[in-house]
Amino acid sequence: MVIGTGGTIAGLRTDSGNGGYQAGQVPISTLLAQIETKFSIKNIQLSNIDSCDLSESLLSKLGVQVRMGLADPEVMGIVITHGTDTMEETATFLEIVCGGSSRKFGKKVVLTGAMLPSDHPQADGPQNLSNAIEFAGKRDGQGGIWAVMGSKPIPGLALVKGHGSHVDAFFEETLPNDWIQVSNDLPIPPDNQWPWVEIITSHSGARPETIIFLEDHGVQGIVLAGTGAGTVHENLAPALEQFMEAGGAVVRASRIGRGYIGGTLANGRLAKALSAGYLNPAKARIALQLALFAAAQSGANSLSWQDYFARMVSLSEFREVI
Ligand code: SIN
Repeated sequence: MVIGTGGTIAGLRTDSGNGGYQAGQVPISTLLAQIETKFSIKNIQLSNIDSCDLSESLLSKLGVQVRMGLADPEVMGIVITHGTDTMEETATFLEIVCGGSSRKFGKKVVLTGAMLPSDHPQADGPQNLSNAIEFAGKRDGQGGIWAVMGSKPIPGLALVKGHGSHVDAFFEETLPNDWIQVSNDLPIPPDNQWPWVEIITSHSGARPETIIFLEDHGVQGIVLAGTGAGTVHENLAPALEQFMEAGGAVVRASRIGRGYIGGTLANGRLAKALSAGYLNPAKARIALQLALFAAAQSGANSLSWQDYFARMVSLSEFREVI
């Protein structure tokens, strides 16, 4: 099954001749007609967008479609063409809501895209799509959420876009082996039921007003894109602490976007926030939304969002609770 969602892989150059292009123009059926494959392909056009416009409603639709594909005995593997800009958010979402089933069914879910539009003379999309289909069709029973950009498969959760313009734009974060190898998928929030979570960056001269504004307008969670090892400016910490006192969820990540953020800060700030482990702020935001939604659904067994979130990032102090 190949699901088209858009991106540069489906992009076309504009007439201006200045290297510009528009993402999400070419249907998935046309992209598939340009490659050779030994597999019989069922294609689905779920959207055709620039992935900077990725919506929660599209993620919900995609999660449902992927679950249907995993349960379909005729489907050996699933490939999703996607814009590279938010591919790591979709990979995180799919890992949390479909990763367990993909391993249970032994079917791979593989994201792919391109850095050059489909009508560029050196377009990287056809080779990436072909490699992704080949990898998704491997009968090794392995399953899992993956990305194929170039020839090397990267586990979805380890995927990081690390360059804004190079064709070789992605790298693989080094994760411990058991990281997010949980077997129970979290629920997919229906459209319009996604918890509201924002990212706030800590930087020189930071001011607390944005946090107070968000709290006043009903935000449920804040991911701090902190400095260095997830540190926070003294001007932001009291507003975030007050937000937590009032029941808001706070996760501490780093704006660096690489490396492990754990433990507590030596200066004692945000002691009650959870750390994001290896999740960068964009991934941590998706994970926090799903943890908040799962906790709201969990009712009688009353697991908290912290329990769900900690399970995802292997925070040992919470993990055994699940
Ligand atoms: C997008 O993310 O849709 C545009 C950029 C890309 O695919 O590389």
